[in-house]
This record gives sequence, C-alpha cells and structure tokens, in this order.
Amino acid sequence: GSANKIDEIKKAISSYPDFPIKGILFRDVFSVLRQPKIFGLLRDVMVEHAKQLQPPVQVVAALESRGFLFGPLIALELNVPFVPIRKKGKLPGMTRTVQYSLEYGQDAFEMQEDAVKQGDRVLIVDDLLATGGSMSASCSLVNAFGAEVAECFVVMELSDLNGRAKIAANVHSLIQYD
Ligand code: PRP
Ligand code: ADE
Repeated sequence: GSANKIDEIKKAISSYPDFPIKGILFRDVFSVLRQPKIFGLLRDVMVEHAKQLQPPVQVVAALESRGFLFGPLIALELNVPFVPIRKKGKLPGMTRTVQYSLEYGQDAFEMQEDAVKQGDRVLIVDDLLATGGSMSASCSLVNAFGAEVAECFVVMELSDLNGRAKIAANVHSLIQYD
C-alpha cells in the first residue's frame, strides 16, 4: 500500500545538520531523485493522491524552485495545466504579486495574469512545509485571482513549526518530521 511506499521514501531522504546555517536540520528531497525506483514510488503516491481529490483539481501550481520538481509530474498525469509561482521579477508578461515576510525582511511571489481563472480549483505543490510563510503567501496569491485552493500538497512537513496553522486551505503532507 501507499504507507509502505511512504516509509521507503522517508528512508531515502538524507538529513544534513547545520545547513544552510547552524541549528537547521536540512531535509534534502534531491536524495530521492537520485534513486529512480524511489522517485517512481513518490510519483505514484503523489499522482494517486491528487487524482482522488474531489471536486477534481483544474490547475496545478508549484513554488520555485523545489516545487517545480513535482508539480509538472502531477499536472501531466491529471491532464491539467501546470503554472509556476516564482520569486518577483522572474516571470514575463502581466503578473500578479503578493508580498510575504521572512524571518528577516520581506520577499514577493508572482504568478502570470493568465495562469488561473476565477473559480479554478488549484492544487499548490511544494517539497516542504516549514514555517508555512511560502505556502500561505501562495494561497493568498491564488485567492487574489478569485481562484480556490483545492489543497496545499507537500512531500515533507516539519510538524513542530506548525506551518499548517497559517493556512486556511487543506494541507496534505506525505512525510512528517518532529
Ligand atoms: C524552501 C522550501 C519551501 C520553503 C518552506 O524553499 O522548498 O519552498 O523553503 O519554508 P517556509 O514554510 O518556512 O516558507 P527556499 O525558500 O529555500 O527556496 P528554494 O526552493 O528555491 O531552495
Ligand atoms: N526549507 C525550510 N526549512 C527547510 C529544511 N529544514 N530542510 C529543507 N528545506 C527547508
């Protein structure tokens, strides 16, 4: 079943103490992509989960940069558009912007104006939920289009940081760390 697959995936994720700064235990999702068999398991679990969401997802959006590893895989399998959420100034054409706070200072995310339509049910994908700042900003951005967040989907959740409390939409994680 998917529980066994998720166990195998969790075992494949390498952790690096004190990266990129002292006190952070970095969970490296790229260690999964190195092993095609495990990457295939992850793809299967993600796609199976996304396919059973009701009402069906109409657009898949993912966060720069590690969300881009997974969002397009899911969108292709669902046969729906994939759209990027990027740091400010990276996307061409008309864009919509949302500011968000970091531990120190501010940043901004953008989506292209024609990426989603009013009423679209959007699945937002990322590798990891930490404080939830990136994901909650992404939800605000999707909502600014009059679109609905079908679910926030992440491979890994740092449960202790309680990022999901910042997010009004449903949050689903495959792997939890505390
Ligand atoms: C990481 C991670 C998430 C975000 C989670 O991205 O991939 O997008 O942080 O943190 P939060 O829940 O506290 O907002 P990062 O900003 O390191 O960018 P990258 O994916 O481009 O490396
Ligand atoms: N992004 C924010 N916190 C992280 C962590 N502990 N590991 C990997 N990516 C992260």
